[in-house]
Formats: sequence, C-alpha cells, structure tokens
Amino acid sequence: MILLSFILRKFHYWLFGISVVAVSCHESPYMQGKRLYEYHCQSCHMEDGQGLSRMIPSLATSSLLGKPEFCCVIILGKKDTIKNNVSYLAQEMPAFQSFTTTELTNLVNYMQHRWQSDFAETSIREMEEMVSFCKQKTSEQPAIPEN
Ligand code: HEC
Repeated sequence: MILLSFILRKFHYWLFGISVVAVSCHESPYMQGKRLYEYHCQSCHMEDGQGLSRMIPSLATSSLLGKPEFCCVIILGKKDTIKNNVSYLAQEMPAFQSFTTTELTNLVNYMQHRWQSDFAETSIREMEEMVSFCKQKTSEQPAIPEN
C-alpha cells in the first residue's frame, strides 16, 4: 500500500511536469523572442508594442514590420528624429549589435506573430541575408549621422 501511494505520488509529479511544459509551449511559439522583447524592448516600446504616446513609436503598427528595414533599425539603431523633424521623441533608438542571428530571428518572429495577421515566419537563413543587407547599407550610407 505504501509502495502504491509512493508510485501514485511520483506519477502525480510526472503529470504535473508535463502540464507545465504544455502550458509554456502554448503561451508563445517564440519563447526566446518573447524573453528578449521583454528584457530589451518593452521598457520603451511597451509590453503591447504600442509605444509611448508621441515619444516612442509603435512597433505593433509600424509600416516597417516584416521588412528588412525593421531588422536594420534593431541592429543599427535609429537617430534621425531631429532630421525628420519629429524631435518630440524623448530618446533615440539604441543599436543592438550583440544579438546572434538566432536571437534576432526569434525576436522578429515573436513580434510579427503577435502583431501581424498575415505573418510569414522568417528563417535563420533569411535573417542572415537581412543582416548582411543592413550592414551593407551602413557602409554605403551611414545610418547614424555625425553631429
Ligand atoms: C531607450 C528606448 C528604446 C529601447 C530600449 C528600444 N527602442 Fe526601438 N525605438 C526607440 C525610439 C525613440 C525610436 C524612434 C527612433 C527614430 O525614429 O529616430 C525607436 C524605433 C524603433 C523602430 C523603428 C520603428 C519605425 O516604424 O520607424 C524599431 C523597428 C524598433 N525601435 C525596434 C526595437 C526593438 C526590437 C527593441 C528591442 C530589441 C527596441 N526597439 C528597443 C526607443 C527604444
């Protein structure tokens, strides 16, 4: 009897373990992307990606979402607020140069999955191409103007 209750208890833990894994898998298919977003982006762009009024632009409704330029902004930053006569932005977009291609892929897929209805998943290979496209862009024409 003792043995049986021991086995049942173990089984219970086992079942509990499986349900925890199942819940976390259903939450978002891009868990790494979600974590990166929460850690690096949401303090400015907000949890729902809507930005902050007239100070930080919305990512959820950005016309760049799904385009290579979106990734370029992440890698290179964006400091053209004054040039574009939108100096109301309190801060500028910092460059995130230390993300690996896999991290960038998961981050971008997380955001598109969340905010774009007709979303086509970006592969790591496609991301590699986008990264080299962005880097080429910098060498041709500096994205960050010197003041
Ligand atoms: C310190 C605040 C801050 C953080 C942190 C931040 N951003 Fe930004 N982001 C900005 C600002 C300000 C702009 C507008 C810059 C401009 O137009 O010059 C911007 C612009 C952008 C744009 C361009 C949007 C458009 O439609 O033009 C993208 C894409 C973007 N951010 C993505 C991200 C991602 C992804 C992260 C996290 C990895 C992130 N940002 C973290 C402040 C931030």
